[in-house]
Amino acid sequence: MSELTSLLIRRAQTILPNGELMIRDVLTRDRTIVEVAPEISNATPTKEIDAQGLTLLPGVIDPQVHFREPGLEHKEDLFTASCACAKGGVTSFLEMPNTRPLTTTQQALDDKLQRAAQKCVVNYGFFIGATPEDLPDLLLAKPTPGIKIFMGSMHGQLLVDTETALEPIFAQGSRLIAVHAEDQARINTRRQEFAGIHDVAVHSQIQDNLAALLATKLALKLSRKYQRRLHILHMSTAEEAELLREDKPSWVTAEVTPQHLWLNTSAYEKIGTLAQMNPPLRSPHDNEVLWQALRDGIIDFIATDHAPHTLEEKAQQYPNSPSGMPGVETSLPLMLTGAMQGKCTVAQVVNWMSTAVAKAYGIPNKGVIARGYDADLVLVDLNTYRPVLREELLTKCRWSPFEGWNLTGWAVTTIVGGQIVYDKGKVNTEVRGQALTFG
Ligand code: DOR
Repeated sequence: MSELTSLLIRRAQTILPNGELMIRDVLTRDRTIVEVAPEISNATPTKEIDAQGLTLLPGVIDPQVHFREPGLEHKEDLFTASCACAKGGVTSFLEMPNTRPLTTTQQALDDKLQRAAQKCVVNYGFFIGATPEDLPDLLLAKPTPGIKIFMGSMHGQLLVDTETALEPIFAQGSRLIAVHAEDQARINTRRQEFAGIHDVAVHSQIQDNLAALLATKLALKLSRKYQRRLHILHMSTAEEAELLREDKPSWVTAEVTPQHLWLNTSAYEKIGTLAQMNPPLRSPHDNEVLWQALRDGIIDFIATDHAPHTLEEKAQQYPNSPSGMPGVETSLPLMLTGAMQGKCTVAQVVNWMSTAVAKAYGIPNKGVIARGYDADLVLVDLNTYRPVLREELLTKCRWSPFEGWNLTGWAVTTIVGGQIVYDKGKVNTEVRGQALTFG
């Protein structure tokens, strides 16, 4: 473990809590930001960073990732994934329960927390997964950001797809429920209709917009009935966004992935099964409606759904090819490139990728650059454009759906708890993150 330090970051263009970008000096001590000022002259830091020309943002909190440990480490593990996070400016992540064994008990949750404490270079939290049988664990397990329900696109026992089975989970307890909203019955019917077709483009027709809408409607219905805190994971369709625009209860949040903003069904022609994910990619119209819903606050924040599979696995013929794409190394540059193109502002990106996530999950002291907040920070370069290159990726699966895309806003230096975990291409593998807590 590295020694705790005091760090002085000089003259970075810094995002302030009110969304303004101003040149500031930022001083951290141990794990905390202790001062933000136009100039700090009386400090004796252990390390100083000249950040002139760079932009300082709160570290990204990625609220939906699949890091594959335990059980599927040939795809990714907590060490490789957290190194990829550090490179991507992601300083905290919330990981999903479809590992092996599934994270459906306190014991499985404790096992993940112990593994993470040993090998994660960024901060971590783990969801508990719902099965029709594990209600007592869902109510009591901790610490966890919430209960993950696969309403469709299941992983083994992780499927709760009928109103009868969902109702007791919504009725009991008060912790956040995060849903993968796809209607399994519709997917099953459509699979039969399209059976024998091996063109991966059919994936978006089988698991179509209606499959997503039906499940989102059911989750909203139950959430309203019990006034239960609900989060809709990776919302992918115009129809769901319009539904929320009409009437979104104050206790409901929604997220979108960069893939569903930036990619659409045309990606199948270019990258084939690498573009296969659940929920699937949609049309350019869906892209536009999702962007607008994000800008209007109908969708609250961004998650990558980082879901690595090996190239060999992905090379299998559809439907044997697995669904999912990696994302933690490209999410921040993609969104900041969007900001530079005028799709949104840097302040909005910060809100969607840090501030709003910390608020939604009640993660204390994160997502803002101000005195007293945790020193989880990222310095990005908004002046240079560089392509996404396979050979530079740190995710174990070593591919990206965005290879060749010319992006700006790459992390130059990432800081976790006041320690430099990534600097100009190198990960400091000695750094360890901490377990997140949830309000
Ligand atoms: O495409 C996906 N793959 N979507 C998910 O929600 C799960 C993921 C995985 O774990 O592979």
